[in-house]
Amino acid sequence: MCGIVGFIGNKNAKDIILNGLTRLEYRGYDSAGLSLFNNRYQIFDVYKDEGRVQKLIDSTKNAPFSNIGIGHTRWATHGRVNQENSHPHYSQTRRFIIVHNGVIENYQQLKDQYLSKSKFYSETDTEVIAQLIETFSQTLHVENAITTTLKLLHGSYALLVLDANDPEKIYAAKYKSPLVIGKSSEGITIASDLMALIGYSNTYHPLEDKTFVVARKDDVRVFNLDHLPIDVEFKPLELTDTDTTKGEFAHYMMKEIHEQPSVIRRIITNYFVPNQTFINPEIIQSIQGSDRVYILAAGTSMHAGLVGKQLLEKLAFIPVEVHIASEFAYQKPLLSKNPFFILITQSGETADLRACVVSINEMKYKSLTITNVPTSTLAREATYSLELFAGPEIAVASTKAYVAQVSVLAILAYELSSKSFDIKKELSIAALSIEHFLENQAMLYLTRNYLTKRNCFFIGRGLDYLVGLEAALKLKEISYIQTEGFAAGELKHGTIALIEDGTPVIALISDPTINGNTRSNLKEVQARGANTFRIVMESCKQEGDQVILEDVHPLLTPLVMVVPTQLIAYYAALERSYDIDKPRNLAKSVTVE
Ligand code: AGP
Repeated sequence: MCGIVGFIGNKNAKDIILNGLTRLEYRGYDSAGLSLFNNRYQIFDVYKDEGRVQKLIDSTKNAPFSNIGIGHTRWATHGRVNQENSHPHYSQTRRFIIVHNGVIENYQQLKDQYLSKSKFYSETDTEVIAQLIETFSQTLHVENAITTTLKLLHGSYALLVLDANDPEKIYAAKYKSPLVIGKSSEGITIASDLMALIGYSNTYHPLEDKTFVVARKDDVRVFNLDHLPIDVEFKPLELTDTDTTKGEFAHYMMKEIHEQPSVIRRIITNYFVPNQTFINPEIIQSIQGSDRVYILAAGTSMHAGLVGKQLLEKLAFIPVEVHIASEFAYQKPLLSKNPFFILITQSGETADLRACVVSINEMKYKSLTITNVPTSTLAREATYSLELFAGPEIAVASTKAYVAQVSVLAILAYELSSKSFDIKKELSIAALSIEHFLENQAMLYLTRNYLTKRNCFFIGRGLDYLVGLEAALKLKEISYIQTEGFAAGELKHGTIALIEDGTPVIALISDPTINGNTRSNLKEVQARGANTFRIVMESCKQEGDQVILEDVHPLLTPLVMVVPTQLIAYYAALERSYDIDKPRNLAKSVTVE
């Protein structure tokens, strides 16, 4: 939800922090700020304002060299988007400076109980943390003041704390919100995710919950909240700059759409290493031993889960339910006697899903997280995890992660099936079909001529209906066009009332057995003035269809059918000059409920 970066070492902290914030800006971009030690005045300067990281880069151009600092890019949860509520926040005497990612649910009670005499300048929960540390530091050593504060907090936090009385240390703490430590000969970097470490760290360690860190320029210590040291392992950081730059593309989203064929091929390579079963046999046994699978996810990942249900039921004959994570967390269905849970999440940090895994673990059921971030909270807290191998997905609108999720779900379903076809071959055919489409597509022209209204419908049957749900989310979240994904056969039962002259209706047709049915539904809307557009598989094509895709295995059509709809969303946003990679109001990883 927010991005935080801290550095202490031998380099100019400002450069490392700004570079890290730029890489993390996709996590939230309402405001940005940083704090650097001013050696001349022996205080920490704070620079912060609403707006993007570029504005912070401009405003800190003349900041003096400092080898220590912390920074933040915000997606507002508590308090308006303005300068006062931007991070870093500080205590009343400005001794303590902090940046925070997460939500402190009991901040008001803490304010009332401990800080009735303190002066506050912002509306944020974060400022309460700074004031508490200052209050406790009047009687406790600073590290105890911090851990005493941490023990009072309910909610989630990834915190970096500076103490003006000791500018040789950065303190950090983590609970539910992600935080990783990077090490190199140049110093210590602590950030919300690995991408901020690229270029400055050779090794990294993902912090566990309820840990407290004391970082010096050449040493980092990790403790539990009772100050008992914890031995931690640092792993080699394998991410490179190419993973996080746009290359020859104008936007990350277009780059990631074009990466989809190679993502599928990478998944095949990683999941079918010769003579080795990549999927832990325990996962297979646990699912086979269950009487029902529950797939939990949010947003695009939930749409991938809907396809996963079809794959598991049709290939492995396992009954599956799909639930929106935020609903399941508090409105559980009547569970079967022996359930197995599959959590699908690109980031591995989605708070709605975290609430589910906590409850699943309390009920002592087994779970599998399918994620793009193997070091993430949800990868670590589920019983098992499988990796997407999609590479960092920077654009807020998820594309290659969806294709990766469906691919991994297909492999999982295949491993649970009688293996009556060659899944590697069929996935390779799907990758090729996407590649051929991307080489010849003319979606800009088509989008310009069809998306002329404030609303739009994607309609389809079976798997195409599920792709329509994802297509609608993509178009909504980056072009802000009110869009619905609708079961083609259901439109006439009410919603067809919305069809009027020029309403764009995009039909997705990949199944020859229901080709005619969907086309009849198209005629019903055409008769009422709709401007229709057809995306079809080769085996379903008819005269006048606008987009024709090479056939793939009937259960893998979502991998290919979704790609034209991703481009429709892209070009619709481009035509409207919207920020394609950072759409308004959104954040890449929603780490609050
Ligand atoms: C998709 O384009 C959105 N960015 C959003 O719906 C996203 O899929 C959802 O927030 C779930 O995120 P996750 O996969 O990281 O859990």
